[in-house]
Amino acid sequence: METIHDNSSLKLKKEFLEAEDFLPLNGTDHVELYVGNAKQTAHFYKTAFGFQSLAYAGLETGMKDRVSYVLEQDKIRLVITSPLTPGGPINEHLEKHGDGVKNVALWVDDADKSYRETTSRGAESSFEPYSIEDENGKVTLSGIKTYGDTVHVFVDRSNYTGVFMPGYKKWESHYNPSNAGLKYIDHMVGNVGWGEMNKWVDFYAKVMGFAQLVSFDDKDISTEYTALMSKVMTNGNGRIKFPINEPAEGKKKSQIEEYIDFYQGAGVQHIAVATNNIFETVDRLKDYGVEFLYVPDSYYDDLLERVGDIDEEIGELSKRGILVDRDDEGYLLQLFTKPVADRPTLFFEIIQRKGAKSFGKGNFKALFEAIEREQENRGTL
Ligand code: FE2
Repeated sequence: METIHDNSSLKLKKEFLEAEDFLPLNGTDHVELYVGNAKQTAHFYKTAFGFQSLAYAGLETGMKDRVSYVLEQDKIRLVITSPLTPGGPINEHLEKHGDGVKNVALWVDDADKSYRETTSRGAESSFEPYSIEDENGKVTLSGIKTYGDTVHVFVDRSNYTGVFMPGYKKWESHYNPSNAGLKYIDHMVGNVGWGEMNKWVDFYAKVMGFAQLVSFDDKDISTEYTALMSKVMTNGNGRIKFPINEPAEGKKKSQIEEYIDFYQGAGVQHIAVATNNIFETVDRLKDYGVEFLYVPDSYYDDLLERVGDIDEEIGELSKRGILVDRDDEGYLLQLFTKPVADRPTLFFEIIQRKGAKSFGKGNFKALFEAIEREQENRGTL
């Protein structure tokens, strides 16, 4: 595998500044996961991550072939969907990928225009624009394909006042564990196969009008054993950030390759959710049973030399396994969960930004070394 050296970053930034934003995005609307047992998975996200019950669609609402639970925490909405009958696209997705992210839905003002602007620039259609209505108004949806079997759904809900979407009813539950302080989705990372990173970087640049925020090659992100490359794409207002990872050659199997093996292709590797108080959030999530990757004490030995002055005490960081990194504008605190389902694929990141708007390269290495220790246990390194 050859290292990719190019100056596309600068070129993209320039083009981006000159271009009109043909795809204005208000933020992430929701993330839909296809899972084997939506009822139990929804319970897990309430119990373990402090999500709240929001909406439900299933047999009771006239949906015959599937069931969906919608959970929310501040601005984050997860839709958890399972099929009720054999066969069909959801079962195919499950058999191939296991539990994972199907739809990364983006909140737009015009789902028709979003579809036209992206498909005319080369996006492959997932589904054409259509509207659904009930007594609370109208939602318009359209969808384009991105890496693997993942879809970007464009959601225009400007004329809707209901709980989530037509077809859903409010999900009332007597079980409402308190939230964990999770605020919004900071970024979502895609793992793609060998030689595919630049193809998808180009997709986000040309088809969706994103710019490249930062690029790390395999010299930046290699451990003793494995390597990978990563480029971060962002939309015009910076609310949407999509890093794209590709495996690189190392002495042992790249963790991106492990993901690709178990997910059977490209897909969402992690969902990063932001908090304003990472100590409180992590303490609560741990109490709730969320498992985090272990960070060795040695990570903290020369931390201040690497990242400079920070507000937090090292001991408070190390006892929770929180990583610190810096970019030009400030620093950020982050840590990573273990995979949330059976296959070693999707996991979550908890992030608190303190000035940094981008990413530093230091934590990539720490993250990947932590994952390698897990890979070793799984026999997949
Ligand atoms: Fe991340």
